[in-house]
Amino acid sequence: MAAETAARYGVIGYPVSHSRSPFIHRLFALQTRQNMSYELLEAHPERLEAAIAEFRESGGKGLNVTVPHKTAVTTLVDRFSGRATIAGAVNTLSFQDGEVFGDNTDGAGLLRDLRGNLKVEVCDQAILILGAGGATRGILGPLLEGKPRSITVANRTLSRANALAERFSSRGKVDARAFSDVGAQDYDLVINATSAGLRGETPPWPAAAIRQDTVCYDLSYGIATPFTRWAQEQGAKRCVAGWGMLVEQAAESFCLWRNVRPDTAPVLRQISSTSAATPPNAS
Ligand code: ATR
Repeated sequence: MAAETAARYGVIGYPVSHSRSPFIHRLFALQTRQNMSYELLEAHPERLEAAIAEFRESGGKGLNVTVPHKTAVTTLVDRFSGRATIAGAVNTLSFQDGEVFGDNTDGAGLLRDLRGNLKVEVCDQAILILGAGGATRGILGPLLEGKPRSITVANRTLSRANALAERFSSRGKVDARAFSDVGAQDYDLVINATSAGLRGETPPWPAAAIRQDTVCYDLSYGIATPFTRWAQEQGAKRCVAGWGMLVEQAAESFCLWRNVRPDTAPVLRQISSTSAATPPNAS
């Protein structure tokens, strides 16, 4: 009897060669005995639509979408999940029943990492998010659902923080600030969602926001990111790079595609121990 053909998945981005997603999804597939393959698709923004169409027409079942396509890809989606609609960005595509379904698993991945892996609560906490781009848009909805005491978004460009506060105003109060206006409030959790670290930059993040017991979480990953190093220098005892979110958002995508939830713990252990030389971020 002929072996069944492996179901094809992949990640599309530009650049994408450093992506850890193939490694993660292969481990998930082995663990859950799924007959699937996972490819890297490098597509310049001008080729995004054509590359997705080719992949789909050649039998591809689903794609992860990474930088810089998460917003642009929304124009190619037929039906959105609720969380992708709220985020206005998509990181997971599923090609099923002749349509393109778009989901966003980033925020759910962050929450699973915080609560499940790190035992960091969101409920009733004061949260500061640095940055007001696509990454912040992806996590604000799930964070607000966690009923924090307050959420402040601080950004280099204040107008972008204001726009996000306005966009999410029906879901909860978001306070918008410039970095220089973040006072010494007691923040329980500070999340770096700027892309500054990708270029090795350390912006004038608000040092007064960091106490010893502030949990400092970088959505980027790497052995030590510019943000986690900076936060340590400010005295924070718990500084975490975003490996857990990377693995958890992948598990959410995998679950959507294959209808089986992989155990993330062994994969997280493996990826963080084998990735010492990985440059920050490329999901
Ligand atoms: P992403 O989808 O990764 O969030 P983005 O939408 O381009 O990408 O947003 C990048 C974020 O990182 C923005 O908040 C940006 O600040 P501005 O809105 O002022 O541009 C922030 N950022 C990037 N480089 C930065 C730097 N060197 N200093 C401060 N903020 C920076």
